Amino acid sequence: MNVKIIPSVLPADLARLGEDCAALDRAGVDRIQWDVMDGVFVPNLTFGPDIIAACRPYAACGFEAHLMCWRPEELIPRYVDAGCELIIVHPETLRQPHQTYQSIRNLGVRAGIALSPATPLAFAEHVLDLVDLVLVMTVNPGFGGQSYLRTMEPKIAEARALLDRGGQDIELEVDGGIGPDTIAGSAAAGADVFISGSALWRYESFAEGVEDLRTRAEKARTA
Ligand code: DX5
Repeated sequence: MNVKIIPSVLPADLARLGEDCAALDRAGVDRIQWDVMDGVFVPNLTFGPDIIAACRPYAACGFEAHLMCWRPEELIPRYVDAGCELIIVHPETLRQPHQTYQSIRNLGVRAGIALSPATPLAFAEHVLDLVDLVLVMTVNPGFGGQSYLRTMEPKIAEARALLDRGGQDIELEVDGGIGPDTIAGSAAAGADVFISGSALWRYESFAEGVEDLRTRAEKARTA
């Protein structure tokens, strides 16, 4: 599985979101992640589907929506219509997780299961036939700029072993505090898809950041 570097646009210039999406696309990101927060499941409130739809024409790369929302079932089709090709949801927010992951696939897009730090990997075991991505959160969901939880690395390794045993083509994504000092640890533990927000915005350019993070992850994955 190739390493993928995906920005979270949470730290973007919210008055110039389209232009930032275009710049990220030019910088060679693999997708763009929208951290959707509803102020209920997490304290923060962020992007509605109309904002994402408005930004869709600015970038050719794929959009993924990480729905940190309570009972997101009715919202999911709206984020698909807005142009998201991958919908990631937390199982504890769903009435019937197995049914919802199936419903995302039925909309013709890919599905991801997000595991908060305290959520066991076991929550993913019985839906691996319905998802294309497992997201191991390395911070508690709700805000960008938090510190990476190194204690999640055994969970990442456990997830890597689970996915390798199953043999399916499922991405193992990590999100939260991913930057030059932390990406190697998560990559060595088995992650192959990396969400970076505040750290990416700290580089001189997006292109420099994408290249540096990708190089560090690839080196750690092959070490
Ligand atoms: C937490 C968010 C953040 C964001 C990345 O709910 O999901 O993890 O994507 O932010 P940084 O890279 O600043 O931790």
